[in-house]
Amino acid sequence: MEALGELAELLGGLGLQVETARSTVEALNKLRADAAHVIVSYHLSGNFDGVGLLEGSILSAPEALRIALVSAPDEAVELDYRPSHAGAIIRLVAKPSERSRLVGLVGEGVKLMTLVDEQRELVRKLSLDQGKLQRRETLLDTVVKERTKELEESYEKLKIANRQALFGLAEAIEAKDPYTKGHCGRVAAYSLVLAKEAGYPVDGLETLEFGAFLHDIGKIGIKDAVLLKPGPLDDAEWVHMREHPVMGFAIASKIEMLHPIMPAVRNHHERWDGSGYPDKMVAEAIPLSARIVAIADAYDAMATDRPYKKALSLEECEAILRKTAGKMYDPELIEVFVGRHLGTLYHEKYDDLPYDDGHAASST
Ligand SMILES: [Fe+2]
Repeated sequence: MEALGELAELLGGLGLQVETARSTVEALNKLRADAAHVIVSYHLSGNFDGVGLLEGSILSAPEALRIALVSAPDEAVELDYRPSHAGAIIRLVAKPSERSRLVGLVGEGVKLMTLVDEQRELVRKLSLDQGKLQRRETLLDTVVKERTKELEESYEKLKIANRQALFGLAEAIEAKDPYTKGHCGRVAAYSLVLAKEAGYPVDGLETLEFGAFLHDIGKIGIKDAVLLKPGPLDDAEWVHMREHPVMGFAIASKIEMLHPIMPAVRNHHERWDGSGYPDKMVAEAIPLSARIVAIADAYDAMATDRPYKKALSLEECEAILRKTAGKMYDPELIEVFVGRHLGTLYHEKYDDLPYDDGHAASST
């Protein structure tokens, strides 16, 4: 097959890597092993079906340019009508007269395949970049989430630390006056139960409980001789003792975290009929949190032992609260507190709390 050698030399002269095969099987094996850009085959050579080979090469080299060399125009006409060409690009070149056309076609095929390869490489790089970008986004997302979580945790820790410091302050007052020990915690618990039962806004419950716990924070400014006096106070002592809501308000106003509880601190001694202090507010003008704390405060003072008075029973406490509703306390809140026996609920629920040691309380 001298012609095959000539063809290989011709195409090799174009700077291409050329592989030759002398049978369909050999050609297909070589095509499976290496991707080809251009496949050139004689149409018919003895028993060799060149066009059959080109058609069969579609599976192993789908994008390659296929060229069949025909020896006479008749063969070209015959091949043009072969129905099995469908899907396969096959160019026909008459040998040897169209040698320059063959060279041109092969060059075109190589160029086309190079473009296809470049396009493939571009797509591969783009998808790699996209993958990297997605990984970076995921990483960024994770970092942001972690940082946010850390910040939230720090904020929570700070909030807890602040609360602990403030509760510590309230406990310091209680520690100074053994008769009020446990009182703040119980007032907070009663206030919370009453607020929940009275339909207080859920998102305000935490602040309300906090305010109830610290409602007497102003007692820090009351003289020990008055605060710790075991017996009843005289008029001047009462005047001084009644300064504690305003003193507490002044303290709370200096601590941003305490601002939401300022009404409970300042106005928990206001009375429904306007006879309370310090602002002589009347009825619903009194902040709701202060009205709730006032009832909890009064109930706990009655329900626990004091230095000069024994604790009253639940029934006695409830009777007094009912009698004073509308004069001292918000009648609707009293109805909830007494009607649902919230004093009993509290004792069952909170008796085991560490801050409730059963000591006496005061409601000054
Ligand atoms: Fe008070």
